Amino acid sequence: TTKIIMDTDPGIDDAAALTMAINNPAIDLKLVTAVAGNVTVDKTTANALKIVNFFGKGDQIPVAAGAAEPLIKPFEDAARIHGESGMEGYDFGDNYGHPIAKTAVQALHDAIMAEDEVTLVPTGSYTNIALLFKEYPEVKSHIKQIVAMGGSISGGNMTSAAEFNVFTDPDAARIMYESGVPIVMVGLDVTLKALLTDASLKQLKDMNETGQMLYGLISHYNDVSGGDQGRPMHDVNTIFYLLHPEAFTTKDLWIDVQTDGPAIGATIADVRGAYHDGKTNAKVCVDIDDEFFNNWFLDQVAQMK
Ligand code: BDR
Ligand code: CA
Repeated sequence: TTKIIMDTDPGIDDAAALTMAINNPAIDLKLVTAVAGNVTVDKTTANALKIVNFFGKGDQIPVAAGAAEPLIKPFEDAARIHGESGMEGYDFGDNYGHPIAKTAVQALHDAIMAEDEVTLVPTGSYTNIALLFKEYPEVKSHIKQIVAMGGSISGGNMTSAAEFNVFTDPDAARIMYESGVPIVMVGLDVTLKALLTDASLKQLKDMNETGQMLYGLISHYNDVSGGDQGRPMHDVNTIFYLLHPEAFTTKDLWIDVQTDGPAIGATIADVRGAYHDGKTNAKVCVDIDDEFFNNWFLDQVAQMK
């Protein structure tokens, strides 16, 4: 099994990614940390707890609350996409437990140092990770890789140049990309191709309890960047990558993060290898088998409660 930690801002696609990670026997989800992003951190923490407890894993998978705002840039949410709570469309009730007493940075440190090798999966902005690397650089050698949703080498979804997670905290993204830890960039280049079609969404509705939960959430998800073709399940692509890297085409590149100006939050790939002398700091996902993604998504949920 692959030991992972998810750092997340649920968020409807984050909720779907957590759902896949919690239920797959090939993945051992050690910890969930929450960060401000799609909505404020009190809400993203509550939402992470709702998913963990929906699957009865409250005793096994701790949830810790993290950064309430980006390192420098003022906080801007995405409630227009994910709804006021960040996870509109399904009633999880009021009994979804509590976060642990540790901060996200402390919890990340302790969980990472307890393992020889762990994979970090951030699906929100990278504020918690940047704070962790500054305070505890010794964790880096215990991280096998970071499989991060965010960025794009083909234009943004927040501005012309920037993807939402990197746009939210570009200074944190720069710290992460300069950390020396191996990074897989799962950005818009693939997540806007792997759209969950309406036909797939309909199938979720009558599948089982999990299908109904995801159907409720995804029907309330206002990311229309896929047009008539379907809805992007951005964050779910990280878990799909961990389980099926063969479904992706990747390129080794150097990624720089723009931290100011009109392209703030852009991830710039050194495609000519000129600026960084051919050196690379990331494996960038550039293509994906979208039919495989849809079939996998449905097949996974069909096996859940
Ligand atoms: C990213 O932005 C968020 O709204 C989604 O949850 C995803 O992590 C896509 O750009
Ligand atoms: Ca997210």
